[in-house]
Amino acid sequence: MAPADLHDQIAELAEIDSAHEGGGLTREVYTADYDRAVDYVSELMRDAGLEVRLDSAGNLFGAWKGAEPDQPRVLTGSHFDTTLNAGRFDGVVGVLGGIEAIRELKRRGYEARRTIEVLGFAGEEPRFGAGCIGSRAMMGTITRADLDEMRDRAGVSVAEAMRERGLDPDRLDAALLDPDTAHAFVELHIEQGAVLESTGNEIGVVEQIAAPHDLRVTLRGAAMHAGATPMRLRRDALVGAAEIVTELERLALASSSGTAVGTVGVLRVSPSAVNVIPGEVQMDIDVRDSDLDSRNHVIDALQAKLRETADRRGLELGVSTITRDEPADCSPLVVEAVRAACTELEVRALDMISGAYHDAMVLGSKIPIGMIFVPSVNGLSHHPDEYTAPPDIDRGVQVLAGTLARLAA
Ligand code: GLV
Ligand code: MN
Ligand code: MN
Repeated sequence: MAPADLHDQIAELAEIDSAHEGGGLTREVYTADYDRAVDYVSELMRDAGLEVRLDSAGNLFGAWKGAEPDQPRVLTGSHFDTTLNAGRFDGVVGVLGGIEAIRELKRRGYEARRTIEVLGFAGEEPRFGAGCIGSRAMMGTITRADLDEMRDRAGVSVAEAMRERGLDPDRLDAALLDPDTAHAFVELHIEQGAVLESTGNEIGVVEQIAAPHDLRVTLRGAAMHAGATPMRLRRDALVGAAEIVTELERLALASSSGTAVGTVGVLRVSPSAVNVIPGEVQMDIDVRDSDLDSRNHVIDALQAKLRETADRRGLELGVSTITRDEPADCSPLVVEAVRAACTELEVRALDMISGAYHDAMVLGSKIPIGMIFVPSVNGLSHHPDEYTAPPDIDRGVQVLAGTLARLAA
C-alpha cells in the first residue's frame, strides 16, 4: 500500500533505481527498474480512482472520466525516468503531483466536464541520444526506423530495449494521439534553474520552451607514442576538441539573443591511455535557445570552426545530428488558465522561459500546451542534491489543480 502523502510517495519512488553510484539515482526508460516504477505509479493512479493503461510506446495514462467523455481531453503529467546520477524531483513532481491534483479536485467535489488524464511519458531523458521518445511517438515525430537507429551508451537500440520489456516496436503507430482528442496539455515541473529562487517568486508561468540542437562530432587524428612523437609531428584529436569546447562557450556567450547555451556533456577519448596521444575523440554537443535564429547562428559558426580546426590540425571530421527540435510557444489558453489559478491562490508568479526541454515541447507542435514551474533550491537539477521543498511542491499542485479545473470545465 503506497503512502497517502505525496512527499512520502516521492521518497518511495526514489528507492526504485539501479545504481546509487555518486549518491544520485539512475532509472532509465525500458529497464527492469523503470518497469518497477511503472507498477508503482500505476498503483497510485488506481488508488486515486483513475483508469490505467499503457500505450505501445510505454507511456502510462491514468484517466479520470469527465461528465462528457467524448469532449477533447485535458492532459497533464510528465516523466519518471531519470538521467544519470539524478535527483528525485525532475519529472516525478509532474506525474505524482498530477495524480495528487486530481485527488484535490475530488476532495473539492469538483465535477469535470472533460476527461482529465495524467501521463507518465516514457523516455523523456536521453538514454538513446534524443529524449522524449514517448511523446514523440504520440505526435508521430519518431519513426520505426529511428527505433533501430537510436542507440544507448552500450549500443542497445530503442527497439531492442522495448522488446526486452515486452513492448512491440512494430506497434509504434498505435501510440499516435489524434490531436483533435486533446483540448490542452499542462505540465507541472521543477524549474531546474535559480530564476524563481533568486527573484523571490513561488511559481513560474512558462511562456516558451527552448529547444536543443544536438550534434555528435568525431575528430580522428593519429594515436601515437606519447613519449617518442615530437609535438610538431602530432595529430592530437583531443587538443582539437579542446578548441571546440572553448569556442562553443565563446559563441554561446556572444549569441545575438543573449539566451543561447552550449555544452559539451560527453567526451569519449580513445584509446584513453596516459602514454598514447588521443587518436580519436567523440563529443556530444548540446546547443539550446528559445530564439531559433540565434541558435542556428551558434550552430553554423561552430560547424565552421570544426572544419577550420580539422583542416589546420590534419584531423578527419565527422558530424551527425542527435536531435534538432523547434522551440515551443505556450498557448494563451493554458497560460491564462495558469495565471488565473495563481491569482486565485494569491501566489507570487513570474512569467518565464524554460531553458530545459520537456515533453510539453514535443506536444506543443500539435496541442495547446503550458507549464507550471516550482522553485529548485540553488537552481540544482540533474544532480543528486536536486531539491524542492514540500510546501513549494504543494503550491504547485494547487496551481495545477486550479488550472485543470479551468481547462476541464
Ligand atoms: C531535459 O531533461 C533536458 O535536458 O532539458
Ligand atoms: Mn531531466
Ligand atoms: Mn524533466
